[in-house]
Amino acid sequence: MPDIKFDFNNMLASNIGRQHGITEIELKQFSKTALKAHKHLRSVLSNPTSRLRLNLEWAMLPYQEESEIKKIQDLGDEIAFNYDNVLSLGIGGSYLGLKAAQEALKPPYYNEFATLRSKRAKIYFEGNNLDPTPLNVLLENLDSKKTFVVVISKSGETTETKAVFEVVAQWLKDNVGSTYGRQIVAITDPASGSLRQRVHEEQKKDPLSFRALPLMHGVGGRFSELNMGLLHLAIMGIDCKDVLVGAAAMADRCSSANFLKNPAYLYAALQFLAYKKKNKRIAVFMPFTESLKSTADWYCQLLAESTGKKFTRKVKVLNDGSEAWSLDGARACGVGRTPVPARGTTDLHSIQQNNVEGENDKTVTMIRVESFKNDVKVPTPDGILSGKYFGQLLALAQEATEWALVLNNRPNCTIAMSEVSPATWGGLLFFFELATAFEGELLNINAFDQPGVESYKNYMYYKLRKPGLSKAIAQEIQKHPLKKDKKYIL
Ligand code: PA5
Repeated sequence: MPDIKFDFNNMLASNIGRQHGITEIELKQFSKTALKAHKHLRSVLSNPTSRLRLNLEWAMLPYQEESEIKKIQDLGDEIAFNYDNVLSLGIGGSYLGLKAAQEALKPPYYNEFATLRSKRAKIYFEGNNLDPTPLNVLLENLDSKKTFVVVISKSGETTETKAVFEVVAQWLKDNVGSTYGRQIVAITDPASGSLRQRVHEEQKKDPLSFRALPLMHGVGGRFSELNMGLLHLAIMGIDCKDVLVGAAAMADRCSSANFLKNPAYLYAALQFLAYKKKNKRIAVFMPFTESLKSTADWYCQLLAESTGKKFTRKVKVLNDGSEAWSLDGARACGVGRTPVPARGTTDLHSIQQNNVEGENDKTVTMIRVESFKNDVKVPTPDGILSGKYFGQLLALAQEATEWALVLNNRPNCTIAMSEVSPATWGGLLFFFELATAFEGELLNINAFDQPGVESYKNYMYYKLRKPGLSKAIAQEIQKHPLKKDKKYIL
């Protein structure tokens, strides 16, 4: 039975001392706070209106209709077997989950070796930066007639995705002709945004073009891999149900009101206590496998964008019993742990020096994988490595990392996965989504908005003279221009 275990021994005072570790008493004293957070989160999650309004519908994604999943699976097969290449365009939540899935669930060098893809299309990610170089290389080298484009943007407005999509759509049109739109699927908000508008317009001209999958209402970008990422899973030939079943099993495991028995709550609570009581402001996230490298990037986005907030949250209960949240402009808090993605064993030769001997201001979360599908044995006839499997050496390196951290009283914990499979990966994603939502409760912030990200987007929209930008945004930008004094530029 594939499994995920959370080992938090090294977060505790019994292993790393009272100055840096959480004591049994501190944990016990926390139960009231944890129960209050649980009750509030559950009351929001059990109210469909609140879930939709506040963007917590992600918690329902493990339980999607089988018939809908089947349609996505079929579309994925159609694309994968009829085209040589898929260009997946998107940024942030519309990109990182997909990249993480591909690395976790498919072998490395997926695009390089046809045997690894079982005759399916290669997949390239674009639209996640405004650097023109990678896009140019792709468009100069891909055969447009054999390339399918999946453009993902919830808002349908994001500059990076939009700019790249304009170029790619034109490239298709120039080379394929008027039916170019049949090589495009758009995943975007069902009603709003300029991408949705384009879908409507193109479908009027050619009903077979610009097929569209809707993003579910009430699911924010970074919480949406189990929605917007499904087509990508299907293109790779992964059974989406396996991932969803793993997520549902984790949701079940993490349903206890008692935070000491709920792995996701306990993870969040320990990190919160380390942050607030022991001043551990940095969260190093270090899987000991290449396959979870991008999952580390995904989690870092989830944590930073969800919990890095300037204002606390004001909760209002409306007449129908649902909740509305607003920012408490009078109570600036400026909270949130700073995530740092790393990877074992590569970064044991870089960031680990700082983890062990630098400022004791961080926690380290490691992920250990117990078994690898194709393990390799060192053939050397004698010597200390002789006959050892890489999996064994990796496990030893992870144990050694724990030892070095504990010796120096550095808080750390380990998530042990029996294997990286669609089910365990789906479970891992749900674990972190719930832990992040719970951490948001403990911080009393809105973990499901991202005004800090919107602010840079708005500045660009203002400078690009985007129609419809609110007056308030324009005025704020005019009131606070960037100041550049030449004497401070050498
Ligand atoms: O989590 C989020 O909301 C963001 O990271 C978005 O996913 C990101 O900004 C991209 O937005 P969109 O999907 O609207 O293009």
